Amino acid sequence: MLVEMARDTEVFGSVKIHELQRVLKFDSGDFENPRVCNVPFESIRDVLKRMAIIIPVKNENMHLLDGVLRAIPFHCSVILVSNSDRDTHDVYKIETDAVTNIHELTQQEILCIHQKDPALGDAFHKAGYDSILDKKGLVRDGKSEGMIAGMMLAKSIGKDFMGFIDADNYIPGSVREYILDFAGGLCMSKSSYSMVRLHWKYKPKVVEDKFYFKKWGRVSETTNKFLNLLLSEHTGFETGVIVTGNSGEHALTTKLADIMTYSSGYSVEPYHYVYLFENFGPDAENTVNPDAVTAGVEVFQIETLNPHLHEEKGRKHIRRMLAGSLSTVYYSKLSNDGIREKIVEEIKDLQKSCRKPKENARMPPIGGIDVGKFMKGLQKDSKTYLRLKQGEIGGEAKHEKSSLH
Ligand code: GDP
Ligand code: CO
Repeated sequence: MLVEMARDTEVFGSVKIHELQRVLKFDSGDFENPRVCNVPFESIRDVLKRMAIIIPVKNENMHLLDGVLRAIPFHCSVILVSNSDRDTHDVYKIETDAVTNIHELTQQEILCIHQKDPALGDAFHKAGYDSILDKKGLVRDGKSEGMIAGMMLAKSIGKDFMGFIDADNYIPGSVREYILDFAGGLCMSKSSYSMVRLHWKYKPKVVEDKFYFKKWGRVSETTNKFLNLLLSEHTGFETGVIVTGNSGEHALTTKLADIMTYSSGYSVEPYHYVYLFENFGPDAENTVNPDAVTAGVEVFQIETLNPHLHEEKGRKHIRRMLAGSLSTVYYSKLSNDGIREKIVEEIKDLQKSCRKPKENARMPPIGGIDVGKFMKGLQKDSKTYLRLKQGEIGGEAKHEKSSLH
């Protein structure tokens, strides 16, 4: 893969944020050019083998999920965390049927769990991780909550890297690219604490009867503006380095995933930045993780070649995402009155009843959870956990538990 070199890197304490890098070509010849990063396919494949792709899903169109599942490179393991309805129609059953079918045809390793499985809530409770639970002791609704459950499963199968892909993507070929971009970015990193975030070249919309290749949406533009402001006010130098504040499609090393704190629902992605600034910025007390401070945390932002086309979820969804995103900056200890006032101004048309954005719930790092114990409890009691192991094509599938009741 050929990726443009980052022209500049913003250094904030021990966090390095590389400027946007374009994918120049998916494959490459054997040559040296100081202006480009040439990542050999063998290196990409080595990363894919050590990576789990986590798909959070909630009642998405099955055609889209099916395309996404098929597009994931064979060497990755797939982890589906579903919060889909099970009452009137058991959507989870339809999802796991699709997964089982793909596994039978391809023998790719696939794990599934339902977010509302009481055994999952119980496993988190026994691990002392109650901040992910609702009053009934079940894992709360929310994309972030599903992602954390997925991370635990990725750790249980010993993965070193985790990537996240949404289930509502219309173009399977773009999903495949995103995962190769994750691997390419991770190969470029010099630190074992690193993250790759994707930025689409375009997000096409239909305007009247034509495609319009839009570059920015209100949520991403505004979130990036405020994350950059937070950074600029602390360094004294204006920056626009952050272009991936809401990047749902991102990947990170398990070592970094283990030490991060997570914000709930859709605020999870912008909070990654806020967390890194607060804990690894120049004013951080260097006690959070001395190893990561020494190694440095690297953030890569890659511009995809493919456009991004996903389900439009409506204005209410956009409003919720924007308020959740800006709340991460509003409540940051690095924020100031000027930034907070600007945020209130930005969202005043969204939240008529309240001047301040609602504070997001936060969930502590998962690194302290004993994965062995967590999985033992989960496997014993779960009625939704399914692990279809990788096997030889044509060989017998190795099911760990395949009965869904
Ligand atoms: P957007 O693309 O960022 O506007 O947000 P989406 O609504 O498309 O959500 C991103 C992904 O998260 C999709 O695959 C959703 O189905 C999934 N998702 C949303 N809410 C939840 C949830 O509560 N739990 C899980 N597991 N997935 C969710
Ligand atoms: Co979407």
